[in-house]
Amino acid sequence: FSDFLTDNFNRQHDYLRISVTERCNLRCLYCMPEEGVPLSPQRELLTTPEIVLLSSVFVSQGVTKIRLTGGEPTVRRDIVPLMQQIGALRAHGLKELCLTTNGLSLHRKLDAMVEAGLTGVNLSLDTLDPWQYQLMTRRAGFSAVQKSIDKIFELNRAGAGIKFKINCVVMRGINDREILPFVEMTREKDVEVRFIEYMPFDGNKWSKGKMYGYQEMLELIRTKYPDLERAKGHKNDTSKTYQVPGFAGKVGFVTSMTHNFCGTCNRLRITSDGNLKVCLFGNAEVSVRDILRKVNQGEPIDEEAFEALRDAALAAEAARASNRPQLLPEGESLSSHLPPP
Ligand code: GTP
Ligand code: 5AD
Ligand code: SF4
Repeated sequence: FSDFLTDNFNRQHDYLRISVTERCNLRCLYCMPEEGVPLSPQRELLTTPEIVLLSSVFVSQGVTKIRLTGGEPTVRRDIVPLMQQIGALRAHGLKELCLTTNGLSLHRKLDAMVEAGLTGVNLSLDTLDPWQYQLMTRRAGFSAVQKSIDKIFELNRAGAGIKFKINCVVMRGINDREILPFVEMTREKDVEVRFIEYMPFDGNKWSKGKMYGYQEMLELIRTKYPDLERAKGHKNDTSKTYQVPGFAGKVGFVTSMTHNFCGTCNRLRITSDGNLKVCLFGNAEVSVRDILRKVNQGEPIDEEAFEALRDAALAAEAARASNRPQLLPEGESLSSHLPPP
C-alpha cells in the first residue's frame, strides 16, 4: 500500500489538515462577510468517530503531522475529546498535532489540549491594538486572545514545548502599521510571527491595491531592523523564515501571491463535510465521507473501504498535479491562477 500518499514526483504527503468546523466566532474582514458563511447541514459534517477513523488510516499510511483548522476549531464542542483521540495516534507514528486558531477561547482549553498531545499552535492575530482588533475582526476579544498568548508562553516556560506561530494577514492601509510592532515582539518572545499576503477568496472583496507584498514588507522591516537575515526553515514550510540576530523569535512570510511555494507543498486537506482536497486553490474535491459511513462504528476499516480511501487520495493527488503552477515558468506568481477579484 506504499503508493497511498505518494505523488507522481515520489513525494510523500505526510501532513494532513482537517477542518473540523465551518463556523467561526469572528468575522475577519479578509475572510468572511458580517453575516458569516453558509453552513452545511449537520448530517453532512464529519462526526468525531469519522474524523478519528480517517486520521488513523492516514497515520497508518505515513502521515506524521495533523493540523486541525476551521472555521475556528475551538468552537467545535467536542474539540478536546477529538484531540485526545487523535493524540492517541502518537503510538502509531503521529509526531505532531497542531491547531490553527484565532485564540479567542484557547486559554480555557489549552491545558487539556497539551495533555492530549498538542505540539503546535498557529494563532491568527492581525493587530496588537485592541481597537484595531475590533475593526478587523468585527468583534471584541483582544484581551481573551492576549490571555491565550500569555498562557502559551507560560506553558512553554514550564517546558510544554509548543511550537508557536502568529499568523498576521497584512492589508494595506488597514493594518500595515502593525508590521514593525509585530517584529519588535520577536525581540523577547520565542514566537515566529508570519506575515501573510492577503489572498482573494470568494466574496472577500480582495483588491490588488490592498495587498502588501513580501518584498515591500522586507524593505519596510529593514528600515528599522537592517540586519534582518534569512534563517533556516523546515522542509515543506509554506513560509520564508527570517530573524533579527539576537532576537528570541523569528519572522516569516507566507508569499502566496508573489512567490508561490507549490513545489514544496505537501498538504492534504479534509473539509469539514468530508472532502479530500489537496490544494487551497484547486476546486477538485473527492468525497471520503460516504466511504467512512460504510464502516461500522468502532470497527477497524475493511479492505474495500481502505481501497476506496486510497483511490480518493490518488485522485486528489492527480488533481494537484494538474493544478501545480510550478509547471509554469519560474517565478510566476499564484495570482495568475486566481479568479479576477
Ligand atoms: P505550518 O507550516 O505547520 O506552521 O502551518 P501552515 O502554514 O500550513 O498552516 P496555517 O493554518 O497556519 O496557514 C497559514 C497560511 O498559509 C494561511 O494563510 C493559509 O491560507 C496559507 N496556506 C496554507 N496552506 C496553503 C497552501 O497549500 N497553499 C497556499 N497558497 N497557502 C496555504
Ligand atoms: N488571505 C490570507 N490569509 C488568510 N487567512 C484567512 N483568510 C485569508 C486571506 N484572504 C488566514 C488566517 C489564518 C490562516 C489559516 O489563513 O488569518 O491565520
Ligand atoms: Fe498548495 Fe495548491 Fe499551491 Fe500546491 S498549488 S502549494 S497544493 S496551493
